[in-house]
Parts: sequence; structure tokens; C-alpha cells
Amino acid sequence: MVDELIGYCDRISVSAGESLDVMVHTHQDEYEASVVRLIHGDRNPDGPGFREEDVAGIGSVRRPGRRQVTRTGSYALIEDGPALAGLSSVTAATWIFPTRPAGGEVQGLISKRGLADGSGFTFAIDESGCLLFSCRVASGQTMELRTDTALTPRTWWFVAAAYESQSGTVTLYRAAHGAWAHPGAPTQAAWGPGELAGTDAPLLLAAAGWERPEGGRPGWARGCYNGKLGAPLLFDRGLSVREIALVRQASAGAGGRAEYPPGLIGRWDFAADQASCAIRDTAGQGLDGRLVNMPARAVTGPNWTGRETDFRLAASEYDAIHFHADDIEDAGWPVDFSLALPAGLRSGVYAVRLRSGPLEDRIPFVVVRSAAAQASPILVVLPTMTYVAYANLALTPECQPGRPDTWNPPRSRWEDLMDAHPEFGGSLYQRHDDGSGICYSSARRPILSLRPDYRTSLLDAPRHLGADLYLIDWLEALGFDYDVTTDDEVHARGSGYLGHYCAVLTGSHPEYCSYEMIAAYESYVAAGGRMMYLGGNGFYWVTSVHPERPDVIEVRRGHGGTRPWESEPGEVHHSTTGEHGGHWRSRGQLPNRLTGVGMASEGADGRSVGYRRLAASHDPHVAFIFEGVEEEVIGDFGLIMGGAAGDEVDRADLALGTPPEAMVLATAMLSEYYSVVLEDRISWRSDRQQGEPRADMTYLENDAGGAVFSVSSMSWLGSLSHADYASNVSRITANVLRRFADKPPSAAPA
Ligand SMILES: [Fe+2]
Repeated sequence: MVDELIGYCDRISVSAGESLDVMVHTHQDEYEASVVRLIHGDRNPDGPGFREEDVAGIGSVRRPGRRQVTRTGSYALIEDGPALAGLSSVTAATWIFPTRPAGGEVQGLISKRGLADGSGFTFAIDESGCLLFSCRVASGQTMELRTDTALTPRTWWFVAAAYESQSGTVTLYRAAHGAWAHPGAPTQAAWGPGELAGTDAPLLLAAAGWERPEGGRPGWARGCYNGKLGAPLLFDRGLSVREIALVRQASAGAGGRAEYPPGLIGRWDFAADQASCAIRDTAGQGLDGRLVNMPARAVTGPNWTGRETDFRLAASEYDAIHFHADDIEDAGWPVDFSLALPAGLRSGVYAVRLRSGPLEDRIPFVVVRSAAAQASPILVVLPTMTYVAYANLALTPECQPGRPDTWNPPRSRWEDLMDAHPEFGGSLYQRHDDGSGICYSSARRPILSLRPDYRTSLLDAPRHLGADLYLIDWLEALGFDYDVTTDDEVHARGSGYLGHYCAVLTGSHPEYCSYEMIAAYESYVAAGGRMMYLGGNGFYWVTSVHPERPDVIEVRRGHGGTRPWESEPGEVHHSTTGEHGGHWRSRGQLPNRLTGVGMASEGADGRSVGYRRLAASHDPHVAFIFEGVEEEVIGDFGLIMGGAAGDEVDRADLALGTPPEAMVLATAMLSEYYSVVLEDRISWRSDRQQGEPRADMTYLENDAGGAVFSVSSMSWLGSLSHADYASNVSRITANVLRRFADKPPSAAPA
């Protein structure tokens, strides 16, 4: 058994004065926890090294260790109750679109089964893709019937299982959907009279049975299903084959509003409340339920015609949910301790540091200024939506840019740990085991890529928080007075919140952002606010926040842009907000309008480059930016692949919304390993190909005193500490920041 010490907090963003729950998993008997302020994460000996500060007086505890278990798999849970009591006969029917029907494990469709004693029933797909009905009858016998042909994957089927206790007749029925489908003969058996053995296990959709551990710990579902499930029905009697055929016809038309045979006790309408984790029973018995582990909602159902691609315009055609056996939202570990953060704690990047013998982990969190505290002149917005989108990123070929075959950086220990824990769930760059793209990501689980010293073997360098700590370290080294906040706060609080600050700084990769965030930045700058976009590939993907679960973001990749997977037809709209997903460029919200630049290219060649100054950099209007900079090449050094321009980069383009007023001050041309973004390629040999793999440094100003300075590269921050913080990258960044932080925006709140 490998020794481990891993934790997570209940959220990333917390105000001074609030408290934070901490969950810890370890094989050790005991561990120590304390709070540290993070300053520099990269342990590369060519840089300042790992830097943190102990924070006395908060959260120093010694706790007994325990092993935590993470249960993956999404399902719907309907609590047991009077309507489900005394179910002696049953018919379970539903539409399914199985995506891994012969997956080697039983995948429950509709069940009410206590796994401890086997009482109740399970209607499922078996290990080899055939339908299965199994139950325990009152005499104590366990009975089972299977069909003998497997369901084909990615096909809509109407399936039903009926058990009639008086005669003991069991029926399995299946019929494919569509013009060519015919039901075929049902599979039947006569087991002899016998009522179902009752159970107080909950009714489950998309799972095979309920495990209830000893000692009052919460139960969980086993045998989770991969695929879509729509219009499930439950009857309290065993329907005949003729009645089942009628049910199929009744629910085949859009809306499924036809008459059902007697005995209907549950009919769940997945077309309703698509943004919610609740599911509604429309059969009148109040058997409403809740979804666990965030299955995909707003997906096409069996009756989708393709006339509409927005679920809000054809609700009944979206009567389905896509479940995955590897879905995870909240890892659900019991809380080990809570941290009460003093109201006067300074805003910054912190971590809960866990230690036990040689083992160590740091769980980062961001303390944002409490409402009562005085704002600093400078606000750093850590791109936490991007951290969550990239959570536990596995480097599948689909998310790897161009790179030399000969360059293979070593894997980091964080990447090895991710491999060891697939149950922590993947990033929005990955697919589920059934091939569908992961469209929700949650912060309430261990995120091993969110560690101060995380390195990615993609670049042999830090990314995300580790890269953004370069900025924190630089602000500390140069003595700037700053607050730190997160995407979550900007999303929730808007431009009024930004308006407290003279200058707002992004991190290295603010790729994922909500409409609310773009609107906040645009209003802030329009009102005279000043922004430094210190990264690359910013403001790119339409991102939304779950209305009931603020720890969950949603991204649908759509059918354009440089994307690691594609949305299924008709499934581009976000379930959480209804808005059209994809990249912002396809919604006309061009990042260029805000920052002057938009995504140009990405690559990983181990040799980032410097920027060459252009004529505009010698314009007296921007002399303040280059004060003290004699060199014509900027940033041909740094801790991220050796240069300030690299990884993901942006360029200015008037045709894509860059304002004509934008001054392009310097540009860096990347190597042949950098490919132009796919959205710039209309066809293989198109004259309209407009892209170029380059990073443009730009400057924009408006009459209100607002300004945006953009570096357009994810590597920029890695060059700040070079030459003891006295390089041209440091000087340019400081020149701009001093000017920007000099006076409050004209429309700043009093
Ligand atoms: Fe990215």
C-alpha cells in the first residue's frame, strides 16, 4: 500500500473572517495541519525556489488520519416512501441510449435493491450488454432473467422489465427506436408465484443497487450506467407484453403525453428544470428525486428531431440525461477540521499544509478582502475557473499541441498521483470512459494540478497556480501593495467590485470565463479602469456556473475552435444557463475587443522566445512602458521553456475585433512546432487563413482613462524573476503597473 496524504477544501475562494472545511485522506495514523501563505511555487533551481510563509495562530492542528473513499458514478436517487412501499409486482420501462453496453460490468437502469441482503429488484444491462432483471422474492430466492442478444451502442432503445407476482411471470422487452425498428419477441420466464421481497433502499435510476454501510455512514449506489436515459416509468404491477408495447408507443411521440395503462406510480420528466440537480415526478405520487455526481443534462432524447438545437426551444425533445459511471462532483469525504480565518487576515494565496513524517501536501485557497477592509490599489485575479477546467489534466494526445519528438520532459510526481487516482475525476479536456466529453468540473474534490509546485510534463514547467505564483512573488519582491481574488468573485460581484481598484491584473491563463466576467471587465475599463492581461489564450471558452452548486463550472466545446472534444449534435447549449457554449469568438464576444488580442497559436517546443520591439514601442506616448529598457529583444529568458513568449499565445487582428487604436508594441514569432488555431483555418488551402503563430504585446487606452496592457503569452510571468527581478520583463511590467496603480479609475466607487 502506497503511503499518501491528500486533501481538498470545500472551496478555493474564501473571504477573510469566514471558515473553510478541510477533508484529508491518509494511510498515516496522524498528521499535522497548518496554514501557510504561498509566495513562489516553482522549485526550479534557476529561479527563487519554493517560498512560503507560516501563518501563526490559524489552523495548527494535529489530527488522526483516516482513509477516505471516493465514489464515482452519477445516478438519480428517489428516497423510499409510502408510494414505493409494498411493491410486490413491478414494471420498469425507459428509453436508453447505452454508450458502453458491453462494458464488463452490470449497469443499472432502474432499481430498488438493497445490496446487503439482495431484496428488491434490479433492471439493468448485464456485463455483456444484454438486458437483465433480477430480484429477490419473499421466499428468499434470488431470481434472474437475461436476454440473449446485446444492445447495440449509441442507439435509442425502448426497454422494459415486468414482474407479475401472482403468476411469477417475468418479461424483458426491447425495441429499437426509429423507422426500421421492430420489437422482436420478448424474453419471458415463469418463476411461479411470489411477491418481491420489500426493501427500504431508495429507488435508483442509472444504478443497480444501494450499498448501506454500517455505522450510519452515508450509503452509495453501485453498478452505475453509461449512456442516456429518458422518460423512465415505474408501474406497481406487472404489465403484459401488449401493455408494454402500448407504453412504448405512448412515450415514442414527442412529449410522451399519451395515456398509460393503470398502475403508473412514477414518470420522471427530465425535460423540466434542466439547470437543476432535482428531477420531477409527473405521475402524481411526489416521487421527486435528486441527481448525484452531476450527470449531463440538456442532452437530446429519443424524440429529438434536429429542428431545434436549443433545449429551451424544444423542451420535450430533450427528455434525457446522460449518466456516466466515472462522473464525479463532490468527492463527499467527511470533514476532518474547519479553519476559521481571522477577519483581519490579509488577502493572498494561502494553503493548508499537511504533514505526516516524510509526506506533505498543500491545499491552496485564496483569501479575498473582506467587505469591511480597505482595498489595495492593485487586484490580482487568479483564473480559478481555468484551474478547475484543467483539474487533474491527463495529457491525452488530443490536448497536446505540436512538439518536437525528441523533447520528452519527465513526468512530475503530481502527474503520477493523478494516474493513481482516476476516481478524483478528469479535466474538461478529457472524455468519459464512454467517449463523451467531460462538460462539468467541480472544485469539491482533490485537484492535484492545483498545487503550488505542480509541474506539467507538457512544458517541463509550472502552469496555472504555480505559474501565477511567479506574479505573487514578483509583487512581493518589488513591494507592491495588492489584493488577490478569484474568477468566482469577479463572476459574482461584477464591475463594481473591480471598480475599487486602480489596476486589475490577470494570471497567466484566464482561458475560461463567464459572460458576467467579460461584462465586468468591459464596464470596468470603459469607466476608466486599468487592466494588465499578463497571460495567453485568455477569455476564450464560454463558461458558466451551476446555479445550485457554485463549485461546478460547465463548458460545452461546440463544433468550432481549438477543442479537445466536440459536443454531440444538439448539445451545445449549457444546461446550467441555457446559453450557447463553445468559444467566445463564435458568440461574437471577441477577446480582442477587451484586450486587443485573441488566441493565435499553441505549442510546446522547450524553447520559448523573446519579443522584438516594433516601431510603436518608440512612440513617445508609450515611453513610460519602456523607460529604462535599452534592448530591442524583450524576455529571451525565463523559467517557462526559457523565454517570455511561449505555450499559448495571442495576436492582434483588426478583422477579429482588435480596436484600431491598439498599439502593437512588440511581437514574438514562435517556432514551426506552433500551429495556428483551428478557427483561423477555414479550409486546407484557404486564402482566408489569417493566423500566424505569434505573440503580440499591445496597449490600448480610452478617453475615460481606462487602459489595457496585454502580453499575450502564458510564459511572460516566468521571466519576472530573471536577473534578480531586474530584467526588461520585470521593468516593463513594473512600469505599466506603477502608471496604472497611480490613480483610481474615474468612476471608482467612493
Ligand atoms: Fe489553455
